[in-house]
Amino acid sequence: MRIDKLHIILLVCVLTLMGYIIIRASQNTEIATVMINDSIAAWKLPDLRKLDLNSDSGKMINYGNDILTKTSKVLGPLAKDPAFRFAGNLLNCSNCHFNGGREPRTLNLVGVTKRYPKYIERLNDTLNIFQRVNNCFMRSMNGKPIPEDSYEMKSIIAYFDFISKYVPEHKMVEFQGISTIPSYNGKLDTEIGKVMYSKKCISCHGAEGLGAPNNFEEDPNGLPFIIPPVAGKESFNNGAGMSTLKEAATFIYHEMPYNDRGTLTVEEAYQIANYVISLPRPNFNHTKN
Ligand code: HEC
Ligand code: HEC
Repeated sequence: MRIDKLHIILLVCVLTLMGYIIIRASQNTEIATVMINDSIAAWKLPDLRKLDLNSDSGKMINYGNDILTKTSKVLGPLAKDPAFRFAGNLLNCSNCHFNGGREPRTLNLVGVTKRYPKYIERLNDTLNIFQRVNNCFMRSMNGKPIPEDSYEMKSIIAYFDFISKYVPEHKMVEFQGISTIPSYNGKLDTEIGKVMYSKKCISCHGAEGLGAPNNFEEDPNGLPFIIPPVAGKESFNNGAGMSTLKEAATFIYHEMPYNDRGTLTVEEAYQIANYVISLPRPNFNHTKN
């Protein structure tokens, strides 16, 4: 008899808890929907495979996609014509802006043309979209700017406009720009970061962060790296967004380890980021450009 009563009491408790959870969940969805309606547009992308490659605009958008996903070959050190070697390292934009910025993840580029001109705190300057693209060419890609009126720049913008098609003016999309990370107030120590790096990152990016080169005998048409370098002369320079603690920690926190995302603690993300940005890399030459 007593056990039955206990059961009933337990059942009532469980039901109350479930009810509470359901109500909370529905409240949360409401909040989420309101936010999306007010300032954040839902994630929606036009299909790149449906481009008409015979049209001028289709060609440009497709070329823009090639520039982002095969940068080293199209506008980098491996470009056949030396005049087109703008990027100075062997990275591709998509090593950071995954899949040409089309992945619903940190550093996606959907809606980007609707957000510029924009004030960039790190640079204490307002940049237009051309300057923003060239900022990554000069820093993340350790190269030189591409002319604003070039077919290349126009193609990059045509591609951005295409992937931003469904983003209303002045609205952000879900996962827009860089995601956030809580701040970390502990002491940063590259030795601690190094130990954490060797547990979480070394298997792919290597002991010195030099990445894993492609085997061209096996894959002659492949890109130079299977895993991109996070240090050394083929990596981003020390003027890049990825060279700043906050941006590196945010990216690493959300996107790495690539095969095991979301497993790092905030502390690990900061310690590892602090270690990675301390590794040798090219110097950003302000006067070169
Ligand atoms: C090493 C990583 C990395 C690579 C490679 C890279 N970027 Fe970026 N990019 C970033 C980071 C980090 C930011 C954002 C923060 C910042 O730089 O202040 C960014 C921002 C941008 C933005 C502005 C996005 C926004 O939401 O405001 C554009 C446009 C952009 N990159 C284009 C490119 C292009 C084009 C390439 C290739 C030529 C490229 N990036 C290569 C790391 C990279
Ligand atoms: C399973 C392999 C793997 C592991 C483990 C891994 N990464 Fe990556 N990482 C990648 C790949 C692949 C990319 C490029 C993705 C693309 O091009 O779409 C990448 C990209 C990056 C980039 C941006 C591009 C560049 O080269 O600068 C950084 C920074 C980075 N990883 C840091 C880390 C850190 C730090 C860790 C450890 C916490 C880590 N990664 C663990 C595979 C890995």
